[in-house]
Amino acid sequence: MPNLKKTCAETRKILVTNALPYANGPLHLGHMVGFMQADIWVRFQKLRGHQVTYVGGDDQHGTPIMLGAEKKGISAEQLVAEIEESHKTSLAGFGIGFDNYTGTHHAENEALVKEIYLTLRERGHIEVKTIKQAFDEEKGMFLPDRYVKGTCPKCKAADQYGDNCEVCGTTYDTTDLIDPYSVLSGKPPIEKESDHYFFKVSDFKDMLTQWKDSDALQPEIANKLTEWFEAGIIDWDISRDKPYWGFEIPDAPGKYFYVWLDAPIGYMASHKVHCNATQDDWASYWLADKSDESELYHFIGKDIVRFHTLFWPAMLEAAGYRRPNGVFVHGFLTVDGAKMSKSRGTFVMADTYLKHLSPEYLRYYYAAKLGNNVVDMDLNLEDFAARVNSDLVGKVVNIASRCAGFIVKRFDGQLANKSAAPELHDDFVNASQSIAQRYEKREFSQAMREIMALADKANQFIDEHKPWVLIKDESKLDEVQEVCTAGINAFRSLCIYLKPVLPELVAQAESFLNVAELTWGDLEQPLTDHTINKFKPLMTRIEKDSIDAMIEESKKDLANEEKSNIAADSPLGQDPISDEINFDDFAKIDLRVAKIIKAEHVDGADKLLQLTLDLGGDTRNVFAGIKSAYQPHELEGKLTVMVANLAPRKMRFGMSEGMVLAAGPGGSELYILNPEDGAQPGMRVK
Ligand code: MSP
Ligand code: ZN
Repeated sequence: MPNLKKTCAETRKILVTNALPYANGPLHLGHMVGFMQADIWVRFQKLRGHQVTYVGGDDQHGTPIMLGAEKKGISAEQLVAEIEESHKTSLAGFGIGFDNYTGTHHAENEALVKEIYLTLRERGHIEVKTIKQAFDEEKGMFLPDRYVKGTCPKCKAADQYGDNCEVCGTTYDTTDLIDPYSVLSGKPPIEKESDHYFFKVSDFKDMLTQWKDSDALQPEIANKLTEWFEAGIIDWDISRDKPYWGFEIPDAPGKYFYVWLDAPIGYMASHKVHCNATQDDWASYWLADKSDESELYHFIGKDIVRFHTLFWPAMLEAAGYRRPNGVFVHGFLTVDGAKMSKSRGTFVMADTYLKHLSPEYLRYYYAAKLGNNVVDMDLNLEDFAARVNSDLVGKVVNIASRCAGFIVKRFDGQLANKSAAPELHDDFVNASQSIAQRYEKREFSQAMREIMALADKANQFIDEHKPWVLIKDESKLDEVQEVCTAGINAFRSLCIYLKPVLPELVAQAESFLNVAELTWGDLEQPLTDHTINKFKPLMTRIEKDSIDAMIEESKKDLANEEKSNIAADSPLGQDPISDEINFDDFAKIDLRVAKIIKAEHVDGADKLLQLTLDLGGDTRNVFAGIKSAYQPHELEGKLTVMVANLAPRKMRFGMSEGMVLAAGPGGSELYILNPEDGAQPGMRVK
């Protein structure tokens, strides 16, 4: 990392970005991993006195957003504007301190996208090729892979996506699917030809090879690139046909830039908006021949590495812009050891978290778990509470609360003019280099460990000197003041070290300590002969009830989302799977074969048939909404499957004593069994 060679005294100009979240749903705790990691790093650099600009925005284009808006009956512009507001609010709630947040649908982005594309074209890096793609004739649109489903050619599992089977794991081409259908219309797609625009990434093979071996990439990512190079660099399809929600390609009617082309350029655009507002010199950050003047870092998750480490540097190079000094990739969040789950309530939205818990708890927990690798990170809810309570409440804040009372009550808030513990002070100052290095290298978990070891030392010091005992002896009052002054100073140093992680707590501590905004440089000089303010509890313990309430509410979020049909991870708004039930719940359902003895129309009912069912002796009266599919006489004498232990329900036309099972798109829906197959009325279905 080139920046580490520079000394702290030299001010660095640093530009930092976060992956731009899609504008198709609210932020969740998974998104917060990248935001917090970058925000902590940025705050650290600012605390050290560097000139840092931190920009982000929403990724506002693409098919899911277009269809999401359609479904809601609003324009795409309106949808992305609403979501941008909600994302900004959630981010502010977590203390993410962007200097600018502008989405990709901004005019500044459109101008840059077009300029970059035209340069690429002028320099011969764009090629037009005709390709065949799945097309939905009813919808009149080409279908992205995720919008075609069908039966897996290998294991024959139904309803698999166009690229791979979730049941057996086979990957294949959309065209290999058996009985493919469009997720949008349910109709089989046709194959249709169309001209597509390709960016010739292969023109940059040499540059990319060099980039792979530079220190901009983590070793695991460099290895990934080696694999991709071995498989052969393929040119990148950057166009999509109308209807599409995005920017139009110049001189190509009906063609739009693929969302992933304009998304990373959004980093440049967001920064440009910031520079316009602050009169900063945008070009000095971005032009290739000025790349020595500043540093550029992108924080991203592991699923979007290819876009940021192959296509993006090639595009920048092709258009005459500088490459990043680092692409910092983090792993995915799991909760309690598993993928976040809506039904378990562990798919927690950022806003839901904020209703129940302080953002600083999570900032600390993530920091305590994050390293600079690409490993997934687990939020274990029990460990979360235990760790925060023990480290922050039990160790850090405790130091202040143990010392402040004596200083305020017995010495009018006045700190002594010397500390009882110059060695303790030295220990704190000496750790500074190492802690700074940990932050710099994004080894936050190690940084937190070192900081907590210092907190332990400070607590030990207080335990040894027992100011609560000394205070009883009038002749030891000076000593009490000095011991507590040492304690307060230890607390102040911990605040400096933790300020990147806990901006809110430290802001409160600054007002309690009655000092200006703390910076890294304040570590050397202790506070003596200074008046502090009355201590107010800076942080309370995490109660299990709050966590439980958050999980419960997250389960409810799921239900609401099903209603509002703009789902975070199901942009198609399909009928989602209901809450998970356990085996015991399932076992309670008594499924029986039933013989339809009589089927009749119900006067005044559009959909219902009245069925008389024989359960092998027991006769039931059931109203079933299947009139559109069957004539009553077709059903008589047939067997079906019913839920035999459903509580009887009074309906407008009489009592219904059970339910028959139906399946299908709305045609012939009943499960009809042939008596010849050997099923007997009353038989239990397993
Ligand atoms: N829009 C693209 C990024 C474009 S960047 C020019 C995108 N959006 S996203 O909303 O799906 O994800 C935004 C960021 O959140 C990505 O870095 C992604 O890796 C990260 N995460 C999304 N879910 C996550 C977890 N469950 N855990 C950790 N990070 C996660 O990708
Ligand atoms: Zn399969």
